[in-house]
Amino acid sequence: MLAKPDNLIIVIFGASGDLTNRKLIPALFELYKQELMPENFAIVGTARSQLSQKDFHSRLKNGVSNPDIVAKTEEFLEHVYYLQLDPGVLNGYHELKSELSILAEKHKSRGNYIFYLSTPPSVYGIIAENLALAGLSAEDNQGWKRIIIEKPFGIDYSSAKSLNNHLLKFFNERQLYRIDHYLGKETVQNLLVTRFSNGIFEPLWNRNFIHHVEITAAESIGVEDRGSYYDHSGALRDMIQNHLLQVAALVAMEPPSSMDDWAIRNETLKVFQSLRHFPVNELDKYVIRGQYTKSHIKGKLAKGYREESNVDPESRTETFAAIKFYIDNWRWGDVPFYIRTGKRLPTRVSEVVIHFKSTPHRLFVENQEFCNTGNQLVIRIQPDEGILLKFGMKVPGTGFNVKNVNMDFRYKDLGNGRLPDAYERLLLDCMQGDATLYARGDAVDAAWNFVQPILDYWKNHPEAPLFGYPAGSWGPDVADDFIEGKNINWRYPCKNLADDGVFCEL
Ligand code: NDP
Ligand code: BG6
Repeated sequence: MLAKPDNLIIVIFGASGDLTNRKLIPALFELYKQELMPENFAIVGTARSQLSQKDFHSRLKNGVSNPDIVAKTEEFLEHVYYLQLDPGVLNGYHELKSELSILAEKHKSRGNYIFYLSTPPSVYGIIAENLALAGLSAEDNQGWKRIIIEKPFGIDYSSAKSLNNHLLKFFNERQLYRIDHYLGKETVQNLLVTRFSNGIFEPLWNRNFIHHVEITAAESIGVEDRGSYYDHSGALRDMIQNHLLQVAALVAMEPPSSMDDWAIRNETLKVFQSLRHFPVNELDKYVIRGQYTKSHIKGKLAKGYREESNVDPESRTETFAAIKFYIDNWRWGDVPFYIRTGKRLPTRVSEVVIHFKSTPHRLFVENQEFCNTGNQLVIRIQPDEGILLKFGMKVPGTGFNVKNVNMDFRYKDLGNGRLPDAYERLLLDCMQGDATLYARGDAVDAAWNFVQPILDYWKNHPEAPLFGYPAGSWGPDVADDFIEGKNINWRYPCKNLADDGVFCEL
């Protein structure tokens, strides 16, 4: 049983926003219900909006209420406060500080604070600075201070580096928690357990046995109401630079010396440092970008990306991106890694597929289905979380007819079936002072450094191919030619939905 975290106060900046309402407060409430919150605690929401405590509570109730737990909700909300504050103005922090010391006394939090930055990224720097100027960043015998930074962490290599340098003037690296919610997903953490708690996988986990590695994060939704953010971001920045490279690092890393956060993050950093640089003159062979176009999905007209609100009608922002890369170290040598992600694909699925090499001598060549695909270990991140091993078995009867069969494990069969939301795990870890599942500054820099040549290339060559793909399809067809090897494609867990294709189960 995990020890309860120390008493503390969580201060949320940007508390009138969507993330607080939809993710942070529900996650904290869930921890509260499971008695994982500290014995005593306070949550202080701050934002520029003028809201009474009652107004603030009513907003939050939408996220946490459930007719069966009204009393529990009310009990939880007794710990939740609101303070109007413009995070850009230093004066307000003095008032914040004196409010906090009153609450610290009341909730016996002994000077322990988490500051959660859930504002637009443009104010992350000034909040850290103002907290320090108000004397709220220094750790002394008055308790610990931690700061959680939401994504996006920079928009390119140089802005991420400047943000890192700026934050490090006011907080040290051990106080900084850069959130990447993919690392909070149970199944992403299970990558470590699958690899390092079982004797059978690790001996095969290298260039001698693995043909290639595929990582997919597909979304069926479009950009929804986030056009103004997304049109300046695109799939490479939004998903690959952070979430999917972090997942790749867990797949590729060496065994850490311990489960200590520093030890694990040292190993993921080494992966980022070993990424082979893209050959800038041949980038089109390593990167594909696409943008969804108008189409029919299950009989309904779906908008093209350029028709979405707050999107430039001539936008060249990618809503699909696929990259191929190599990790130059002894374990991986020339094993290609492929990452693809996109919006308006046929379904929502994130998974890692380890494709093993085929046998050196093919005895059962008559069965193309098996010979072409070989063994696959599918690690399903979401939905339908689990692991699937595909291997060949003899079909009963005459001859040697080999068929691919599945051995599968589903997460829902383990435990009580409820998978905690990523924010629950990440918030609890931060309270416990465990940064394993948070991105370290050097790794964030290294990941930006890796994708920067692509961003530069697209910026300097607007004519570089941007392939249209019908909303509801698996992205541009050219993405298939990308995969090295005869007759080898991406894994398609579901058919195209564009042009009224048939919906299929995962
Ligand atoms: P919202 O726009 O819904 O909320 C932003 C919050 O910041 C509001 O409370 C707003 O309150 C405050 N704010 C807005 N502009 C300023 C400003 N110029 N100076 C100071 N405060 C400001 O955003 P979200 O809650 O969706 O997102 C918050 C952060 O989390 C963003 O950085 C976003 O990228 C990140 N994020 C969000 C996700 C989500 O699912 N929502 C997922 C992943 C990351 P007020 O105007 O009252 O001050
Ligand atoms: C966010 C991206 O970080 O991750 C979104 O900004 C994306 O564009 C989301 O939709 C995907 O997260 P999940 O947990 O739904 O896979």
